[in-house]
Amino acid sequence: LRVVVLVSGSGTNLQALLDAIAADAAGFGAEIVAVGADRPGITGLERAERAGLPTFVCRVKDHATREEWDEALAEATAAYRPDLVVSAGFMKIVGTAFLARFGGRVINTHPALLPSFPGAHGVRDALAHGVRVTGCTVHLVDDGVDTGPIIAQGVVPVRDEDDEATLHERIKEVERALLVDVVGRIARNGYRVVGRRVLIP
Ligand code: GRF
Repeated sequence: LRVVVLVSGSGTNLQALLDAIAADAAGFGAEIVAVGADRPGITGLERAERAGLPTFVCRVKDHATREEWDEALAEATAAYRPDLVVSAGFMKIVGTAFLARFGGRVINTHPALLPSFPGAHGVRDALAHGVRVTGCTVHLVDDGVDTGPIIAQGVVPVRDEDDEATLHERIKEVERALLVDVVGRIARNGYRVVGRRVLIP
């Protein structure tokens, strides 16, 4: 399975996928063919370069409109002929052009138990709400924000002494394992969507 991973920051979810593939490429069943980002100079791109992978950067400010950026991102991604696009800490919402091209084949990982706490501050919002458990969600990307059918979730307890950073780090430990498991299973078994349920044999 050809996978393009989109990142915006540290890329530890990307690194977890790279490590799983390095450990057992044949068994894992997926190969990362390129890594894209919405900004240069991030650790996620360094991780890709260290792994010898092609990278691309699509910055919103380099385009006259958001739609043109979305088109450019779709073009750059399509060049690598992905079977699956994984948004792993990618902090932009892909638009109509991107979804027209890859809709149904884009998954995202979110650091909260959707549908609770969608958006760019899921960890902070859960903490502020005072939840006792939170977690992470891997889901199909649809035309909403963190609203697509859920593939897998992991639960993470909130500790009294947690702040956003400590809680997010504990979530990311679960999230990285969840994402590796989901991508590997999709690579080996495929998936189908029945209503709002994503079934992986
Ligand atoms: C992840 O928790 C992801 O869910 C959120 O931002 C974090 C990215 O972490 N959107 P990394 O870049 O994979 O280390």
